Parts: sequence; C-alpha cells; structure tokens
Amino acid sequence: SPPPTSRPRAVLIGPPGSGKSTVARALARLLGVAARDTDADVEHTAGKPIREIFVDDGEPMFRDLERAAVATALISHGGVLALGGGAVLDPGTQAALAAYAEAGGVVVFLDVTLAHAAPRVGFNQARPLLLGNPRAQWQHLMEARRPIYRQVATLVVDTDGRTPAEVAQEIAAAL
Ligand code: S3P
Repeated sequence: SPPPTSRPRAVLIGPPGSGKSTVARALARLLGVAARDTDADVEHTAGKPIREIFVDDGEPMFRDLERAAVATALISHGGVLALGGGAVLDPGTQAALAAYAEAGGVVVFLDVTLAHAAPRVGFNQARPLLLGNPRAQWQHLMEARRPIYRQVATLVVDTDGRTPAEVAQEIAAAL
C-alpha cells in the first residue's frame, strides 16, 4: 500500500473540558501547522451537530463515524489533531493510535480534574453524554476512561491551573 501522505505532529486525547480543541489551536500556531478536530469532521460528514447524531442515529452510529474520521485524519492530517473525548474507547481507534505511536507519533493525554474541567464543560448541549447531571456524568466517564487515556498516551500533561498556551508550550518542548 502507498505510504501515508502525512501524519499528525501530535494527537490530543482526554475528557470533555480538558481543553483539547483550544490546546490544539495553540500548539498548531506554535508549530506553524493546522489544527483539526475529529468532532468537527464527524459533524461535517453527517451534516448535523453531534447532539443530533446521538438523537437521530444513536451513539453506535456516532462512534462509527468517529472511527472513520480518526482513521482518515491519522494518515492525512499533518498538523495537530484533537480527538473527541470518547474516541479512545473504540478498539479500532486504539489499534490505529498504537500503530501511530509505534511509528514515533505523539499521543498526548490532557489530564484534568473535575474542578478545572467543569467551567469549560458547563451544561453544553453539544455533549449528549453529560446531560442530566454533568458533574456526576463527567466523573463517571473519567473514572472509567482514565486507565485507557493513560494506556493510549505517549505523553501525559497535567493541565490543572495552567493556560492552554502553557500546555501547548510544554507539548511543543517535548516534540
Ligand atoms: C464525547 C465527547 C465529545 C463528543 C461526543 C462524545 C465523549 O467531544 O465527541 O459528545 O464520549 O466524551 P469533546 O471531548 O470534545 O467534548
């Protein structure tokens, strides 16, 4: 098969409210490359917002679209890539990220505690998995996922009390 056209300089993973999209933009600016977000890719493909995909088509369909979006971006996006918070749950995506990391790719887990994530998450309707009691739902997601985030990551950055610019600087220094 032909070689990939390009692959990300870094892939950002972590829960909702960890600042993935904002840090991706800041890091991309530092590196002089483009930032890309698989949530936006999925919305573009589906032609509707994520909350509508969940309502109309269900989470499994969202995860299918997300798996495809991640796979495409990993072989075609030469900038910084931010994944949706749950993308790492998918075994296919886990395998794709492992192959990317094995080839020298950088997967960054933006670790964060509820106190720092909550103001960013709020009661945003764009996050259907956090409806109802967002704080409790977030804690539940994070407890279940933290081992997966740590397993998939090649670099863990503690973001609590630090600005997106500071987090981006730390990642850039590690590249
Ligand atoms: C999800 C996180 C969201 C989005 C979808 C599902 C999750 O992305 O992909 O609502 O399972 O954690 P963000 O992490 O950008 O909020």
